[in-house]
Amino acid sequence: MKFFVDTAEIADIREMAATGLLDGVTTNPSLVAKSGKHFLELIAEICDVVEGPVSAEVTSPDAETMLKEGLKLSKIASNVCVKLPLTKDGLYVCKKLTDQGIKTNVTLCFSPAQAILAAKAGATYVSPFVGRVDDIGSDGMQLIADIVQIYKNYEHFKTEVLVASVRGPSHVVAAAKLGAHVATMPPSVIKSLLNHPLTDKGLASFTSDWAKTGQSIL
Ligand code: G3P
Repeated sequence: MKFFVDTAEIADIREMAATGLLDGVTTNPSLVAKSGKHFLELIAEICDVVEGPVSAEVTSPDAETMLKEGLKLSKIASNVCVKLPLTKDGLYVCKKLTDQGIKTNVTLCFSPAQAILAAKAGATYVSPFVGRVDDIGSDGMQLIADIVQIYKNYEHFKTEVLVASVRGPSHVVAAAKLGAHVATMPPSVIKSLLNHPLTDKGLASFTSDWAKTGQSIL
């Protein structure tokens, strides 16, 4: 399973990249606004830090402008992945960019039917938002299960399932059990995957017992 970090904070991206466990980055207009940075400069900076795909989202609703934005974003660096909304115009642009060999991430996916359209448009990734589905009282992980199963039924669907709106380790584990290709997570969630009280307790007792031996490995 690939791990992407879902943030536009360059310090967090550098910290996550330094772990050696980071496979890519996703941003969205809300995260960019929060960062206070110039969008195009920020994407260039992130692409320098991370080798893997960096999702940069278009912001215009109409296909013509969206296509121009997507082409401009794709020229920032070879690892830019153009993020497009799951709308009629977004899917049209997805097909156009895919035909030119440009990576795409179709976002704001909330149903298996929408995910089928993203795959037919040739998206590199589709981003179903599990947390936001849970928030309205539906089952976000069932959405992932449905999409993974549907994509497996059709060999020519090459789109990877990028689980987004991830709120905690249980989302990550459940998505991994279903065979989702990627999880994009805020830095706090990536860090929380590490934690277990029995690891802390076990390490504390190993350390104190080792001290009693008076030995040193080096
Ligand atoms: O980047 C898209 C997605 O991960 C947003 O998550 O927490 O705002 O629902 P959230």
